[in-house]
Amino acid sequence: MTAAQVRRTRRAPYSTPPALLRAAEIPMIKVNVNGKELQVTADPETPLLWVLRDSLGLTGTKYGCGMALCGACTVHLDGAAVRSCVTPVSSVGERKVTTIEGLARDLSHPVQKAWLELDVPQCGYCQSGQIMSAAALLAHTPQPTDADIDAAMSGNLCRCGTYQRIRAAIHRAAQLMAAS
Ligand code: FES
Ligand code: FES
Repeated sequence: MTAAQVRRTRRAPYSTPPALLRAAEIPMIKVNVNGKELQVTADPETPLLWVLRDSLGLTGTKYGCGMALCGACTVHLDGAAVRSCVTPVSSVGERKVTTIEGLARDLSHPVQKAWLELDVPQCGYCQSGQIMSAAALLAHTPQPTDADIDAAMSGNLCRCGTYQRIRAAIHRAAQLMAAS
C-alpha cells in the first residue's frame, strides 16, 4: 500500500472535506456601501475592489493594475479617494464606502454634470476612477488651481489621453458648485 493510500484509509469516512472547512472559517464582514449596511463573506485580506465587484455586483469600479498605480479602482472612504485594489476589506471598518454608483444616481453631482457637458470620456474605462478622484478633490478644494488638479489627479491614468478635458471638466464642476 502506498503512503497516499494509507493517508486516505486513515481519514474518517464522513469527515468534513478540507475545502468546506476553509469555507466555514471565512468570516462575515460588515461594510457600509453607498449608504447601505451590508454583510459580505470574504477573507479579511480580500481587496475591497473584488468585494465591490464580485460580491456586491458594483462593477462600475474598474480593475486596471491591482497595484495602486492607475487609479481605475478609486472609491471614497468617508469622502477620501482610495485605491480599492490595495485596500483589504477588513481595513474599511466603520468608514463609509462610496462607489461611482453611489455618487449621485440621478447624475446630479456637479462632476457628473461637467463630465457630460464636456463629453470627457473616450473609451470610458478609467473614467469612474477619474470622477471619484475629481469629486474627492472638489469636496475639500472647491476652487482648485491647475496645479491642485494635476496633483490630485496624477495617480489616475488615462490611456486615451483625456487629461485636458478632465482638467477643464473639474474647473467646470467647480463653477457649477459655486453657482448652486
Ligand atoms: S487597479 Fe487599483 S490603482 Fe490600478
Ligand atoms: S477614457 Fe479610455 S482610458 Fe481613459
